[in-house]
Amino acid sequence: MSLISPWRADFPALAILESQGQTYLDSAATSQKPQALIDALTGYYTCGTANVHRAQHLPAERATRAFEDARIKVARWLNASSPTEIVFTRGATEALNLLAYGLEHLIEAEDEIVISALEHHANLLPWQQLARRRGARLVVLPIDTHGMIDLEAAAGLIGPRTRLLAVSQLSNVLGTWQPLAELLPLAKQQGALTVVDGAQGVVHGRHDMQAMACDFYVLSSHKLYGPEGVGALYGRGESLLKLKHWQFGGEMVRVADLTHADFHAAPLGFEAGTPPIGSIIGLGAILDYLSKLDAAAVTGHEQALHMKLLAGLEVRDGVKLLCAPQTALASFTVEGVHHSDLAHLLAEQGIAVRSGTHCAQPLMKILGIDGAIRVSLGLYNDGVDLERFFGALDHSLDLLR
Ligand SMILES: Cc1ncc(COP(=O)(O)O)c(C=O)c1O
Repeated sequence: MSLISPWRADFPALAILESQGQTYLDSAATSQKPQALIDALTGYYTCGTANVHRAQHLPAERATRAFEDARIKVARWLNASSPTEIVFTRGATEALNLLAYGLEHLIEAEDEIVISALEHHANLLPWQQLARRRGARLVVLPIDTHGMIDLEAAAGLIGPRTRLLAVSQLSNVLGTWQPLAELLPLAKQQGALTVVDGAQGVVHGRHDMQAMACDFYVLSSHKLYGPEGVGALYGRGESLLKLKHWQFGGEMVRVADLTHADFHAAPLGFEAGTPPIGSIIGLGAILDYLSKLDAAAVTGHEQALHMKLLAGLEVRDGVKLLCAPQTALASFTVEGVHHSDLAHLLAEQGIAVRSGTHCAQPLMKILGIDGAIRVSLGLYNDGVDLERFFGALDHSLDLLR
């Protein structure tokens, strides 16, 4: 498999970054955007904007149609059974907070909310706060030495008091796919609701909501080469009915008087206020762009890059991977070198990687470290990016040791 990315030229920022001596290896934080998205956003903003679902005039009809088309595209991308199963949010974080408020009435004192030790803060703190509000218990599934949620331990910890299981699909720190096919049914057998944080997983491959035993799945557009400020909550039809409304205002209400109001069901009932219309249309455009790519070629390219990244890290003295990642990223420490010093030197040489706790402080504590360097890949990266990274890494380590 060639390490040249046939899609690199679709992303104009990469040539500009390159001309500035920058190598972008931080796509798990946020991705660069293709021209197809820039054109869609320019097209929308140039043709005249309008609010959605509110007016009969032509710009409003056009905006509403494009907005609802985007919902259909997200539903198709996830193989949801209906576009009404897609609620637009401002990102994965907001979708998880929506769930933590929307499901609050189902959680009672002494109930158990189960998460794992490797969760991003976005899939930890909303549940931690919910547990506090309701006097419930937050149960944390341990991870094994392969960076996977320990299924044996999970079978013992998920029980009759479990009301909800919320776990990541792909770890943003370890790069490991979590064993959802085995894990989610353990919660379902107890009658619990299941939430999957797909913020990283959605970027790599297509995932079929009808095949996954989840009630809810959340994603952010900006990691998937789309605009910031928009994400989606997938909810199985019957699971969405369990949600209580959480944000109140325009367009989510059916009828209101000064003392009472009656609200729409999902999705509109959970999209209070003017949504980020342009960004949602942009998300639809990104899914069009991605749908036209050869998915097997993208996966093959990402895997080949990933193997090169791992091979290069493994032969360098003192470099220690946090675990063996399976895709798209690698997090590591270097013996005797602080991650922030290394990240600083890499940045000085134009290498954009992330260092720190990656919004997963509990995981860092368990691993006994105060942070790590994370190199993360997008479909536009190529072998030259990795060679530049390794050159800068060697130079930095020479300076630091
Ligand atoms: C696994 C995971 N979950 C949730 C999030 C939060 O996504 P956002 O900040 O786009 O809401 C991230 C972002 O890094 C993530 O990696």
